[in-house]
This record gives sequence, structure tokens and C-alpha cells, in this order.
Amino acid sequence: MSEPIGSEISMDQLPIRDELRGRSPYGAPQLDVPFRLNTNENPYPPPPELVADIARAAQVVAETLHRYPDRDAIALRTDLAAYLTASTGVPLTVANLWAANGSNEILQQLLQCFGGPGRVALGFEPSYSMHPIIAAGTRTDWAPTPRRADFSLDTEQAAKVITERQPDVVFVTSPNNPTGQSVPFADLRDLIDAAPGIVVLDEAYAEFSPQPSAVELIAEFPTKLVVTRTMSKAFAFAGGRLGYLAAAPAVVDALQLVRLPYHLAALTQAAARAALSHADATLASVATLAAERDRVVAALAEQGFQVVPSDANFVLFGLFDDAPAAWRAYLAEGVLIRDVGIPHHLRVSIGTPEENDAFLAASAHVIEESTR
Ligand SMILES: Cc1ncc(COP(=O)(O)O)c(C=O)c1O
Repeated sequence: MSEPIGSEISMDQLPIRDELRGRSPYGAPQLDVPFRLNTNENPYPPPPELVADIARAAQVVAETLHRYPDRDAIALRTDLAAYLTASTGVPLTVANLWAANGSNEILQQLLQCFGGPGRVALGFEPSYSMHPIIAAGTRTDWAPTPRRADFSLDTEQAAKVITERQPDVVFVTSPNNPTGQSVPFADLRDLIDAAPGIVVLDEAYAEFSPQPSAVELIAEFPTKLVVTRTMSKAFAFAGGRLGYLAAAPAVVDALQLVRLPYHLAALTQAAARAALSHADATLASVATLAAERDRVVAALAEQGFQVVPSDANFVLFGLFDDAPAAWRAYLAEGVLIRDVGIPHHLRVSIGTPEENDAFLAASAHVIEESTR
């Protein structure tokens, strides 16, 4: 087969922005292996009733695909408000909600609006790798601030750094990916108090956490607090690409200045509404996954690993002499987990009991060769 047209040139030869040169794109491997435990999805596929409802909804929408979708996604946002109100007890309306293609797009819109050239976003690392990548893409300066050695957040120190740096945007991820801990609810107030600008509380894994949602604090901090959520994790809808936020209506209004028109496909809106109508059944898996997480944590500790406490559907563990080599050893056993770049650690997503058993069986082999 001949080479694709233009393949003699490389990215270096393109006039890309200087700050993007030498960077790596987000790239969790998508490999065809028996056990895929690397991207924190819900391992349970949609039940037949939901599949049928999505197919029915798609059929109805298909008849109107010559028209653009509802640009404001009113019906979907109304359903999201109802879901979040029911799960948090905080009375939210359509005006408090905004939706996009995954919470990554929500985060991008937030930085397009509140970050940008000459502005600073601050995050507590290690944390979600897309926060700095989206900052770079929007030309927002990134101010990485370390967590404690045990990966917990020293909120007193964090508030001090926020006061010193005066960032335009602060990212707080709770539970934090890839480490798993939640920020204690009382501490959130101190962090938001210290922040001069917007605080993005990334709650991608909130459904797994015993802690109340920061949505409760929006009324207290309407000019500052934005809570982002996703249907990709507990909601078992990663392929549907639906993220959302809750905030004061003025924040939602501000995002209209940067969102692309008709960004959310009619098919996406309809499928997400169908998925939301099955929320109770889908979220029943959260208790199962939390119990499996606790079983995996106990079994790893029993095998001799150090395990970071987790409120989410994944676990960070170690200590490996050489984490990339250990990652390859798991892969050789058909188990795909995640090397998040933290020395001596790897992260595993919680799967079905059978998947977790396969992971633990592989762990028993890997620990013999590769732990310190
Ligand atoms: C902390 C955090 N925020 C946001 C996301 C983005 O999820 P999505 O774009 O699928 O909604 C992820 C995905 O891994 C995440 O871990």
C-alpha cells in the first residue's frame, strides 16, 4: 500500500503554536485485550430495556435530522436538573444546567470563557491530566501545585497558594483522579473562600463518593463555583459523550459566548435523555462497584501492595520498582490498566467481579517480579 498523501512532512514542519510544540496528546491506549480496566468506565453495559429505549428515541430523531438540534438542549438540561435535584436535594432548574460532549468539552468551554491568554489556572497534582492539556489548548497559563506525598490535599496550604497566586480558575477534583480521595466537604468552603475567580469542582466520580456534592455550595458562592459532572462513569454512558455542569444561571449565560452553535447532536441529546430515564437501574451498579473496590483494595493490601484510599471506581497502587515494566507485565496477562505517570504506581479501574479476579490473579504474579 502506498503512503498517505503528504506523509513526508511531520508536525514539526507545521506552523503550530509554540506552546504546543513537543507536547503529547491525551492517549490512554485502546487495546483489544480480554480485561480493559484503564479508563474508569462502568463495566456493566446498558440493559436491554435501555438499549430498546435509545433505539426508539433514535428512530424518532432520525426523522428530523435535516434540521439542526435544539441549540439550548432544553429538554435534556431539564432532565439533568431533575436528576441532580433528586440526587443532591438542591433545587436546580434548567437555567442552572449546561451540557456538552463529555465533561472535557465543558472544561474546555469554561477555560475558553474564564481562562485564556494572560490568565492562570491552578490545579493540585497529580490530578486529571486533561486539566493542563485543556489549559494549553486555550492558552491559559497552568500553575501546578503539589499534593502531599500521600496524595491527599493539604487544604490549608492549598488555600495559602491560591491567596498568593490569585489564579483566575482553580480546579479541584473530588474524588480526585487518579488518586481517589475526596476533598472533605468543610475544606471546600475554605478553598472557594480563598479563590479570587472561578472554582471548577470536577465531580466526574461523585456518584461513587459517600461525600455530599458541592452543588450544595452554589447558592453560597454563585459568582465562583461551577460543579462539573459526567455521564461517562457511574452512568455507564461513556460512548454517548455527555458531560454537564451546575452553576448560577449567569455562568451558563457566559458559556453561550464560547460554545459552538448546535454543539450537541440531536441523537446525543435523545440518547442521554433515554439513559437518564433509567438512572435508578443504572446507578444500582454503584453499590456493587463500591463493594468490589473495597474487595480489590483489601486483596491488593493482602498481596503486599500499598494502596491509596479511594472514594471512586478506581484504585492507585504500588510500589513498583519500574511502573512501566509492571504495566507491560499486566498487559502480557491480558489485563490493561493505566500508567498515569506517577513513579512506582499504577491505576486500575474497578470492573465486574470476574474482571477484578483476573486483575488480582495477574497482580499475584506481577508482585513477585516488580515491587520494591
Ligand atoms: C476527573 C475527570 N474529569 C473529567 C473527565 C472527562 O470525562 P468525559 O469527557 O468522558 O465526561 C474524566 C475522565 O476520565 C475525569 O477523570
